[in-house]
Amino acid sequence: MTRLLVTGVSGLLGINLALEAVQQGFDVVGWTNNQTLQNTPFQQETVALENLESLPVALQNARPDAVIHCAAIANLDVAEQNPQLADLVNAQAPGVLALAAKKLGIPFVQISTDAVFDGSKGNYSEDDLPNPLNTYAQSKLAGEEAVRQAYPDAIIARVVFYGWSLAGKRSLAEFFFNNLSQGKSVNGFTDSIFSPLYVRDLADLLLEALSKNLTGTYHLFSSESQSKYDFGVAIARRFGFDESLITPVQTAQGNLPTKRSLNLSANTTKIQNALGNELPGAFEGVEHLFEDYQKGLRQQLAAFLA
Ligand SMILES: NC(=O)c1ccc[n+]([C@@H]2O[C@H](COP(=O)([O-])OP(=O)(O)OC[C@H]3O[C@@H](n4cnc5c(N)ncnc54)[C@H](OP(=O)(O)O)[C@@H]3O)[C@@H](O)[C@H]2O)c1
Repeated sequence: MTRLLVTGVSGLLGINLALEAVQQGFDVVGWTNNQTLQNTPFQQETVALENLESLPVALQNARPDAVIHCAAIANLDVAEQNPQLADLVNAQAPGVLALAAKKLGIPFVQISTDAVFDGSKGNYSEDDLPNPLNTYAQSKLAGEEAVRQAYPDAIIARVVFYGWSLAGKRSLAEFFFNNLSQGKSVNGFTDSIFSPLYVRDLADLLLEALSKNLTGTYHLFSSESQSKYDFGVAIARRFGFDESLITPVQTAQGNLPTKRSLNLSANTTKIQNALGNELPGAFEGVEHLFEDYQKGLRQQLAAFLA
């Protein structure tokens, strides 16, 4: 049985990836920072990533056969306000962990972001030059570079995703679900384009990339891009909410504190060729989100919170 270390296991990606991996027969060990989870079907440890010198021993003690490094300061505004912490956690810790994994001779997957691009062009492939616009994106790009340098055979997966999280407030899908289900009006950005995957579909792809021994940088996105407004409308339609509660606006009208890249549509040809199958489209992802809602995944996740 493969023992998989999932860092950031209390996060949106981490918890869904850990559950998916357990379902596929992995022995999972998860790292958290502050959050303690209860009754999870995997072992947990608390490791603060900013304590860089502690990480190699912590990794060795976890005895993994592979690592998927999901943990990060993933909130753009938090990173913007805490650049030194973002540097330690998002930029430096990945390199330290990747080097430790290389020394142990085990595969390492670094989770990165579409936000490394400035959003001026769209249809971004792995060959396009990054140009991050904010502290979060700069620190994630620096994290990629640290991993490439420490462990050239690591996988760097650039992602963007949505799904059900532990506290029910982490993803854009939950933002639309929570507001629309209560009849509350929200804005939907028409000029902010992305290619998000449903997080469980992303988890499957990450585990497949590991099993196929991929190395290098890959774009793991939906095969279809859409605006955040269109995404909200798709959620409204699938869950039977009133889509007229979503007002189409430009991102600039949202007065967001941190600068964001606008057109992050992505090219997924490289990963499709490597895995030999189509990536899920926009409709398929929302369908999977709805199926897991019907199966009670939200309640299952909420029960893990101590
Ligand atoms: N959400 C997206 O659409 C998106 C898009 C592009 C890329 N990404 C990347 O995907 C990965 C996962 O994102 P997510 O949305 O799942 O994040 P999230 O829900 O915010 O979870 C972040 C995780 O990182 C842990 N963490 C934060 N600071 C830490 C520290 N100092 N030491 C140890 N652990 C720490 C958190 O632990 P605690 O809960 O204990 O604090 C939590 O488990 C990140 O690398 C992010 O950059 C996300």
